[in-house]
Amino acid sequence: MKGAPVSGTRNLRINGEAKPVEVPADMPLLWVLRDVLGMTGTKFGCGVAQCGACTVHVDGQPTRSCVLPVSAVEGKAVTTIEAASRSDAGARVQRAWLDLEVVQCGYCQSGQIMSAMALLRDKPDPSDADIDAAMSGNICRCGTYVRIREAIKLAAGAPKGRP
Ligand code: FES
Ligand code: FES
Repeated sequence: MKGAPVSGTRNLRINGEAKPVEVPADMPLLWVLRDVLGMTGTKFGCGVAQCGACTVHVDGQPTRSCVLPVSAVEGKAVTTIEAASRSDAGARVQRAWLDLEVVQCGYCQSGQIMSAMALLRDKPDPSDADIDAAMSGNICRCGTYVRIREAIKLAAGAPKGRP
């Protein structure tokens, strides 16, 4: 017989800080971030892993937080848009986003930036095919795709700093 989800302490590590939370094991990470911890930079778009608005990094990998049970990230490092600028790739991406005025309504952009920063960390000089592969899961209803591609290329050419 299936019972109610069991609440308990989940020992999370988010943006380098320990964040124990009392939530059910199957609560999606996105709910924990936004509704429990008040970290609203990560957005809810579709809720079914189709749009990429909720992308965070889990142990460095871009991951859809809307369908990820919080129990799956215990013991792992979660990075959100709030800490994107702490990494070299994230700082370069955010700078390029501003320089090229990528954002329109902005709703998808946290997820776009999290995907772009993982791409540049792993492939400092990405080809168009690399960009397509890394960014294809991030939907933008405002159609900012051309500026996103230009900004990734601008960020790739920017001086490299700390890792
Ligand atoms: S809100 Fe998670 S992929 Fe759309
Ligand atoms: S900027 Fe509006 S959805 Fe992407």
